[in-house]
Amino acid sequence: MKISIIVGTRPEIIKMSPVILQCEHLGIPYFILHSGQHYSYNMDKVFFEQLELPEPRYNLDVGSGSQAEQTGKILLGVEKTLMKEKPDVVVVEGDTNTVLASALAASKLQMKVGHIEAGLRSYDKTMPEEINRVVTDHCADYLFAPTEKSRQILLGEGIAQEKIYVTGNTVVDAVFRNVQLAEKKGNVLHELGLKKQQYFLITCHRQSNIENRERFSGIIEGLQRIHKRYETPVIYPIHPHSRKKLQEFHLDYEGVTLLDPVDYLNFLQLEKNAKVVLTDSGGVQEEACILGVPCVTMRNNTERPETLEVGSNVLSGTEPDKIVECVTWMYNLNKKWDNPFGSGTAGKQIIEILKEVVV
Ligand code: UD1
Ligand code: UDP
Repeated sequence: MKISIIVGTRPEIIKMSPVILQCEHLGIPYFILHSGQHYSYNMDKVFFEQLELPEPRYNLDVGSGSQAEQTGKILLGVEKTLMKEKPDVVVVEGDTNTVLASALAASKLQMKVGHIEAGLRSYDKTMPEEINRVVTDHCADYLFAPTEKSRQILLGEGIAQEKIYVTGNTVVDAVFRNVQLAEKKGNVLHELGLKKQQYFLITCHRQSNIENRERFSGIIEGLQRIHKRYETPVIYPIHPHSRKKLQEFHLDYEGVTLLDPVDYLNFLQLEKNAKVVLTDSGGVQEEACILGVPCVTMRNNTERPETLEVGSNVLSGTEPDKIVECVTWMYNLNKKWDNPFGSGTAGKQIIEILKEVVV
């Protein structure tokens, strides 16, 4: 069996790392194809280095662009590469344009497609990710659902039960593998003079939030109010796209500490020790839940309802008053919950399943 593992963005590299390392461990023939959707050192290469992943055999260098431009370029590049390599199965993870284009290219070449993190739904088609998820799931032959809930969603859409495997989310594998290392090797708390449990951690990069001036300014104002109210640092490692929009909209962010995106170990260290995490990221909602840290999601919906059900996460939207209200609630939360995303063996399970089913 020869596997083509396709990645393109920061979360895909992190969440695919357990699968890649398992291929390495078992000596399974595979290669990495990188679309180049993310390309800045701190959004891309730093994760290969830190997670000790081999270099991609191919990088399509597609870079940034409109939805169609980026998706189209990946579609063309992936098709060419897959025709040359003829893998037995193509594996993608998540909901980015890289995932959509790769699944489309592979399935149109009649190649088998495995989709990791299948069955997530926000039911919000204004987000490009929702379209990417739905189409990818319906192209896939092997759907690796993180939870029973996601399996039920797939069944409800008419996907055959034989194609669906509940494995947990590979993000758990990545967190378990790296969290202790993060505490030992991470230096960000020390460098910023932060005390454990005495700061808020922010990520915010969704196009639906940052490209809309009203929503983005609501978020920034909410963060400023939290900073004033708790007299506590508000730490925001900012995605390059969000930094661009912050400047373009001339938003005043006094009181919010902006950092360039940080590497994975430092981010885990920041996450594990934060009082509350505020985010619009998918992976961060999951990681906060796994690490036992309360999370406020600055959106009106989430494709990770498991986090709401266990009580690790609440939805605040982007109005400053509502953000402050949700933070107050989570700040005083004195509650433990079980991690709903599996036992940290998803990477191993996925490779075992592929070994059995791919002929
Ligand atoms: C993409 C995914 C999103 C995911 C996120 C992870 C889609 C539709 N969106 O969003 O689901 O949560 O990645 O972070 O696939 N840029 C850089 N350097 C980079 C990459 C991007 O400066 O390495 C800047 C460019 O200005 C670019 C902008 O960020 O135009 C947006 O990048 P893009 O890849 O289109 O989408 P993300 O917002 O990163
Ligand atoms: N992350 C990181 N450094 C940062 C911000 C995030 O390493 O400065 C990691 C984080 O631990 C998580 C992943 O990036 O695993 C989430 O990626 P992102 O928020 O970009 O995408 P999403 O999950 O929303 O698709």
